[in-house]
Amino acid sequence: MYTQIIRPLLFCLSPENVHKLTIAALRFAGYIPGSKWLMEKLFAVKHPALEREVFGVKFANPIGIAAGFDKNAEVYNELSALGYGFVEVGTVTPKGQPGNPRPRLFRLPKDRAIINRMGFNNHGMQNAIENLHNRRQGTIVGANIGKNSLTPIEEAPADYLKLFRNLYQYVDYFVVNVSCPNVAKVTSLQNKQSVTEILEPLFEFRRGQSQYRPILLKISPDLDDASVDDMTDVMIETPLDGIVATNTTTSRAGLSTDQKTIDAIGNGGLSGAPLTKRAVEVVRRVHDRCQGRYPIIGVGGVMTVEDAKAMLDAGASLVQVYSGMIYNGPSFARQICKRLIADYEAAKAAETTKQPAEKAE
Ligand SMILES: Cc1cc2nc3c(=O)[nH]c(=O)nc-3n(C[C@H](O)[C@H](O)[C@H](O)COP(=O)(O)O)c2cc1C
Repeated sequence: MYTQIIRPLLFCLSPENVHKLTIAALRFAGYIPGSKWLMEKLFAVKHPALEREVFGVKFANPIGIAAGFDKNAEVYNELSALGYGFVEVGTVTPKGQPGNPRPRLFRLPKDRAIINRMGFNNHGMQNAIENLHNRRQGTIVGANIGKNSLTPIEEAPADYLKLFRNLYQYVDYFVVNVSCPNVAKVTSLQNKQSVTEILEPLFEFRRGQSQYRPILLKISPDLDDASVDDMTDVMIETPLDGIVATNTTTSRAGLSTDQKTIDAIGNGGLSGAPLTKRAVEVVRRVHDRCQGRYPIIGVGGVMTVEDAKAMLDAGASLVQVYSGMIYNGPSFARQICKRLIADYEAAKAAETTKQPAEKAE
């Protein structure tokens, strides 16, 4: 239904308008009594085999919504009712900001991809806090935090600390975003020294709190292997709790969309199917380097159930989707979860048939 009827209709409209429309529709649905119950009935899948405890937080299932969809923390309850195990809101910046001029969001249907240069458009920290007061029980929310575009890069640590302190009591975990290609110089923060300068004050603040909030670092797929190792080492050597791999890529390699269209779109981060291979590679590299001792959220090009499984097989504890939901529709989490349950049941059945045979031997 979604891919046959709804998606073709939505793809006639501008991507940013569709996004606005979707947020408005979800918000509207949220006001209707019983709607979240109905959404859960229709979309959510519950099964003990899906449950995870990662960095001390309990998840009903490992499939979440990546940052950038619910930038202002407006529809996390509804996304959770659609069966997503967690929602990462943001990127939130201290002050609200408009982001880059439009157009800034583009579809590449031939490649099952998206290019965006939104530039951290969001209503700011105070607005997010107000919205986070309405959290429904059982909804797991992470805050993805970033610096304001106008904050000089040397003052970035102060922005991250401000967000961390103020949002601390409202979310379950934090993601420090230093990998957005659409805000000047942000990606240049992905070196050991800059990242440590950002993280240390957060660790310091957390030490004084009665409740523990995990901190993760979101990294770019465009890092070379040595830099991926450096970021992993920061995780091993400091109280950093995990890594989110990956953000969007600036690469345009191997696209089927014609060059003229790509050139006309211009700068931005590419997400969706062309990112799958590199994102899985980065997840595997981080996992191998830390010997699987730290949690990884795998994100980037999860467009099919198999892609989600590949992320988990590469060492991700949790998986996030964004472009995959745009191309597959709201039931994408349901599709993945059902398959995870089926695989679990099949493995269990194989185990029970194997045991008597082993005993007979
Ligand atoms: C329109 C759009 C906006 C995004 N905004 C953010 C953002 O604000 N912060 C962030 O960390 N990632 C952002 N992302 C990146 C996604 O969280 C994700 O890392 C990336 O899209 C790869 O996943 P995907 O291939 O499933 O889309 C955005 C992605 C898209 C498509």
